[in-house]
Amino acid sequence: MNRQILLKKRPVGVPSAGDFEAGEGPAGSPGPGEVLLRNLYLSIDPAIRGWMSDAKSYLPPIGIGEPIRSGTLSQIVESNAEGWPVGQIVQALAAWESYSVVSARSLHGKVKSIQGIPLPAMLSVLGGTGLTAYFGLLEVGQPKEGETVLVSAAAGGVGSIVGQIAKVKGCRAVGLTGSDEKCVWLVDELGYDAAVNYKTANLRVALKEACPDGIDVFFDSVGGEILNTVLTHLNYHGRVAVCGAISQINASELPPGPSNYLQLLAKSARMEGFTTLDFARRYDEARADLARWIREGKIRYRDDIVEGLDQAPSHLLRLFSGEHRGKLMVKLADPEV
Ligand SMILES: NC(=O)c1ccc[n+]([C@@H]2O[C@H](COP(=O)([O-])OP(=O)(O)OC[C@H]3O[C@@H](n4cnc5c(N)ncnc54)[C@H](OP(=O)(O)O)[C@@H]3O)[C@@H](O)[C@H]2O)c1
Repeated sequence: MNRQILLKKRPVGVPSAGDFEAGEGPAGSPGPGEVLLRNLYLSIDPAIRGWMSDAKSYLPPIGIGEPIRSGTLSQIVESNAEGWPVGQIVQALAAWESYSVVSARSLHGKVKSIQGIPLPAMLSVLGGTGLTAYFGLLEVGQPKEGETVLVSAAAGGVGSIVGQIAKVKGCRAVGLTGSDEKCVWLVDELGYDAAVNYKTANLRVALKEACPDGIDVFFDSVGGEILNTVLTHLNYHGRVAVCGAISQINASELPPGPSNYLQLLAKSARMEGFTTLDFARRYDEARADLARWIREGKIRYRDDIVEGLDQAPSHLLRLFSGEHRGKLMVKLADPEV
């Protein structure tokens, strides 16, 4: 049987338990070019909240009554697609369900086990999360040695990796996060040079102290007032890498644009959005670098994993309350050998 978590209704504001419902049905069987996946781990991402609304985006909205779409680590249990054998573990865009039928062409790649790195890391630091940090910082932010890199949502899945890559590249890394405990974690465990609790600090004053030479790269996952304030601290030729805008993701109406945007003109700076998919052809290169930095002890990561499909909705809500560090995932099953 295929257990599922379905979209019951579109959330208004922050999602709640009532927006989801459990379902059950037979597992599908794959047609030509398709595979049947047994889902092992679900990636809990802010993007899911976007897909739950009916706003136009890079993927269509999840339909009412459909399972919640999600990045997964999955194992092929039936295959009608050449080159995708049964038993292969893959990264996929599947759903909150025990089994999914997907087109083999939609699979994000085969998981090659890397010695010393546990399987779920292939969905976090060596999956979409680490790849987002890597390409967003290095390709969009283009940090140079000695520059200051500011990271918002710095203690989350993506942000916790961004600051460490900035350090690898010889930059000063400064993080913004929502609790003193997370600030300590960023500095003491992850090697950030400074961290600011944006909920309690006067951000203008705190940024001057934490970034005495100004900000060359702002890796932004939050948007809203934080972005607006940071724009006034950008250096000449500064870069803003627009990774996400989690402060706006539950808004029912379009938020006002950043009123300080003319700072981009004054500083000859640039603000550029990206999706990780833009760099799909270079994933292997990024994974090789990230795996090497993990082995060399230059990058640490934290996976926050709960077990059981029923836990997925409440785990998703932690993205908005900030009650986590590192990457959120749900474990459904172990691979079969
Ligand atoms: N462009 C891409 O291709 C791409 C790919 C993946 C992810 N993303 C984006 O990357 C960002 C991080 O994703 P993630 O999965 O790693 O999530 P995450 O950072 O692990 O979790 C989100 C964090 O955002 C902070 N936050 C939540 N609401 C906030 C608010 N109103 N104001 C300020 N901070 C708030 C919370 O931390 P605090 O305690 O610090 O507030 C929370 O822990 C998201 O914006 C996501 O959309 C983009």
